[in-house]
Order: sequence, then C-alpha cells, then structure tokens
Amino acid sequence: MALRNILTDQEPALHKVCKVVVNFDAKLHRLLDDMKDTLIESGGVGLAAPQVGILRRVVLVDTGEEILELVNPTLVETDGEQEGAEGCLSVPGKYGLVKRPYYAKVRAQDRNGNWYEAEGEELIARCFCHELDHLDGILYTQLMEQYLTEEELMGDDEEE
Ligand code: CO
Repeated sequence: MALRNILTDQEPALHKVCKVVVNFDAKLHRLLDDMKDTLIESGGVGLAAPQVGILRRVVLVDTGEEILELVNPTLVETDGEQEGAEGCLSVPGKYGLVKRPYYAKVRAQDRNGNWYEAEGEELIARCFCHELDHLDGILYTQLMEQYLTEEELMGDDEEE
C-alpha cells in the first residue's frame, strides 16, 4: 500500500491543465494503484491525479460498487440539473453549493488504453464533473458563490 500526499488548493499543480496520457505503462499502473490506496484512505468519492501532484489526465471515481479508473476522460453526455453541497479533498473541511448535471456519461480509457463508457446520476454524475474539472485546473470553489456554514450543511459531508 502506497499513499500519496493530497495537495491543498494553494498548490500551483491544482490550477493547471493536465496532459493527455500516452503511455499505458507500469508507471501509470503504479500511479493508479497509489491513487486507489489514497482515495480509500481518505474516505473520498473521487480523486484526480493533479491532487497528488501529477499533471496527467487520470481520475478515480468510487461508484459505491467499484472504483473506476478513468484515463483521458471526457464528458460525452449530460442531462438535467442538480444543486447540492460539494466538497473536495484538496479543500479540507469546507463545502459549497454547486450546480451540476443530474446525469453524466463519460468516455475514458482503462489502464491498458481500452476505451469504455461509464454513466451515473446524482452523486456519481457530480463526481464525474468535479473530477474532470480538476484535469483542467478548475476547483469547485470557482463554481460556487460562497462556502456553506455548518448549519447549512445539515449532515451532508461527501468529499470528492
Ligand atoms: Co476535488
């Protein structure tokens, strides 16, 4: 088990556009394995490579049934709208209201370069959008108006 350090939002790496992955090699597999350990340890729903200081288009999303490995992901379909509390492992202890699509479908490569699609609603759709934003240097804090207070949170404590 190898944990990587999760960067917080003052770090420049979190505000940069990540590069496309071209080599589906042992180095990528080690990154994915380490990110998986780090995500499980953190208790979060998703994790993007720039959050561990790697400027590559790699994201993990925990659907509750499995942890999806999304390499070079793009949003290919969205539908509807939801507004809810959103947090980020790189902005610890804080949450804000963010509007996201209710449904999202992504197309991505697996660790061996094979293309596949994944879809989800509610929290999973929110997580897809949140994590993909990380790959373009966008944090949810840029999409919200203000942080929620503890009273406003009312027990909603998902971190992505
Ligand atoms: Co995040």
